[in-house]
Amino acid sequence: MSIETAPMTSGAPARRWDELIEPDRVHGSLYADEAIFREELEKIWFRGWVYVGHVSEVPEINDYVTKSIGPMPVLMVRDRTGAINLLLNRCPHRGNQVCAIERGNRASFTCPYHSWTFSNDGRLMGYAYPDGYEGVDKSALGLGRVARTGIYKGFVFGSMAADGPSLEEHLGGAREAIDILVSNSPEGEVEITAGFLKHKAKANWKFILENEVDGYHPAFVHTSIFQVAESGIGNLYGPDSTAVTRDFGNGHTEVDLRPEFRRIGQPLGWFGTNEKRLPDYVARMNAAYGNDRAREIMIAGTPHTMIFPNLFIAEIQLFVLQPMAVDETIQHVTALQFKGAPDLNRRMRQQTMGSVGPAGLLLADDTEMYERNQRGLAARNPEWLYLKRGRHRERHDEQGYLIGHSTDEVPSRGIWRHYRSLMEA
Ligand code: FES
Ligand code: FE
Repeated sequence: MSIETAPMTSGAPARRWDELIEPDRVHGSLYADEAIFREELEKIWFRGWVYVGHVSEVPEINDYVTKSIGPMPVLMVRDRTGAINLLLNRCPHRGNQVCAIERGNRASFTCPYHSWTFSNDGRLMGYAYPDGYEGVDKSALGLGRVARTGIYKGFVFGSMAADGPSLEEHLGGAREAIDILVSNSPEGEVEITAGFLKHKAKANWKFILENEVDGYHPAFVHTSIFQVAESGIGNLYGPDSTAVTRDFGNGHTEVDLRPEFRRIGQPLGWFGTNEKRLPDYVARMNAAYGNDRAREIMIAGTPHTMIFPNLFIAEIQLFVLQPMAVDETIQHVTALQFKGAPDLNRRMRQQTMGSVGPAGLLLADDTEMYERNQRGLAARNPEWLYLKRGRHRERHDEQGYLIGHSTDEVPSRGIWRHYRSLMEA
């Protein structure tokens, strides 16, 4: 089998996914074959639940932001009833993108091409020179919609399929990551208000998905930022770390650093600081949760969890993955902001700029690896990628999830198991 397999034609037999995905190795064509990419769009991105945005991005009536589901442009709008609508950003007349401005507040959208106008719940309100149309059913000419919208603790997901598992079923155990995340706010909410940076990588989206929860690489790829920042993060991923990798099922995975943070036992140690440096935040957390619970939360910190297929909760940031082509992915990155925590939020923005900003030291290193991964695939041998690390020491935790050492490839194997089940369906 070669890396570049021929595109599937309509008469071809269905692809044998078991021939490409084995328990501890995957075939290189999965990252490079355009036909596989198109099939992923249909079976994963345009069928399952995909993260779109956060309610705090559209706080007021008539607020909107441009978003995406994979390469598909979407408008996330709060209509005049306060409901969140996920509309497809495509004019029913001739396909023009109705709205090109990334955010704003408007009750209607007017297509720039021939001036058809839509209300922000998607209905066609009118068109220019109406005497050119006769007997037209306007109600059939509204903007397309994402079939289902689901919201969990402010996180808005969309599914292009009218039927299928509920959002709660899809999230499963990964809901706990969102629960833990929001508990770091004294008001129990995150706010996505810091603005997004977009980083393009000439690499397949799954290299990025897997790397977000790859605890094997940080000690090598990120040596420079750990040294410059005099950070202890590198040790979390060392051979002696008590941190674990976890597979929640449904493709959701994490590197759980909490065992290490609890061993160290320092409130705000996860953030590289201590209680004296953020007295306002500590006081608000104590008032909200009581001193004991607040101390537990501040010791354990925020999650490092990848919610399949595109939402990465990265301790102090959110990353949203957007596949554009088989070998091109955009990562949308923003600093997490916790409601009621202005002093912590200021530092989260600063750290985000230092790590994943335009001159940031962290994401640039990862992106270099993604692009080298993709370029390496052009070499045709060996054809397979090896994912066996830690297979012999996998075990189940108290909740029944598969876990391993922080450097083990438990997450990658979990992602591929789920991926195969979706592609075979
Ligand atoms: Fe939108 Fe013509 S394409 S009005
Ligand atoms: Fe990295």
